Amino acid sequence: MAAVVIRDLHWRYENAREPALRGCDLEVEEGAFLGIIGPNEAGKTTLVSCIKGLIPHSAHGVYQGSVRVFGGEVRQKTALQLAAEVGMVFADPEAQFTAMTVEEELLLGAENMGLPLPLIAERLAWVSELTGIADLLQKSPYDISGGQKQRVAIASVLAMQPRILILDEPTSMIDPLGKRQVFEILRRLRTETSLTLIVVEHNIEDLAPLADRLAVVAEGRVARVGTPREILEDTGFLGALGLAAPEVTELFARLRADGLHNGAVPLALDEAVAEGRALLAGARGAP
Ligand SMILES: Nc1ncnc2c1ncn2[C@@H]1O[C@H](COP(=O)(O)OP(=O)(O)OP(=O)(O)O)[C@@H](O)[C@H]1O
Ligand SMILES: [Mg+2]
Repeated sequence: MAAVVIRDLHWRYENAREPALRGCDLEVEEGAFLGIIGPNEAGKTTLVSCIKGLIPHSAHGVYQGSVRVFGGEVRQKTALQLAAEVGMVFADPEAQFTAMTVEEELLLGAENMGLPLPLIAERLAWVSELTGIADLLQKSPYDISGGQKQRVAIASVLAMQPRILILDEPTSMIDPLGKRQVFEILRRLRTETSLTLIVVEHNIEDLAPLADRLAVVAEGRVARVGTPREILEDTGFLGALGLAAPEVTELFARLRADGLHNGAVPLALDEAVAEGRALLAGARGAP
């Protein structure tokens, strides 16, 4: 079943001269992990805001086309329906905090949805463990590190148990350790749950190994959708948009173009090390 089906979507912000989206088409299967990449100002945030329903429900502008989430038009869904179906986390986690403690922050959304208390307690235990914030529950969400804030933001959205989780550049404001922890949460969500994940991310190298498919957004359209391998192997296409494949992918794509490598190009360092070893062993005539 499709979790999201977008057809010929156009959107122009009320005060903008140019439309931000100019004919987007996209499908996301239920349970899939879709990565979204693209240059700055391409329309990535606008596109995911249309899936979450922030557009058109909380924004002014001109909307054309269709966005269906689990079969229903987002335009016609209520705020409560959308809250139950789609959770969204932004680059700046503080923007979504409203409570005085982390625990309250986790409880708020779930309580607003009218879930029974034992169910809420169960979810709280699960999201705290998953995001590694169990020892932060009594702290103020403003009084913790950037990485911890982002994990609290993810936890509080997960506590509402949406069927689709959207993260818009969740690691762009945090340090390398915080980034690794966020990607580890994504890896666990991918393997341990049937959640549909949509992640906008500049860090292609960390995104690619997790994603089932990557969508490239450029100039208000979904320019291409494919497996991470299909998208990253086309280093020329990415380069023309000012995007870079991981350096190891770039290296092997060039070696292949020179006829020095004839296998698949690696997408991550571990794969590249294995390919590199095989290549060097072959060059030395070793078995
Ligand atoms: N609230 C708004 N009002 C008017 N124009 C907007 C608004 N938000 C975004 N835009 C414009 O819409 C276009 C798409 O912006 P959007 O934020 O969706 O791009 P993006 O791909 O998420 O960029 P980034 O990588 O910088 O996050 C840009 O030209 C931007 O200036
Ligand atoms: Mg954005």
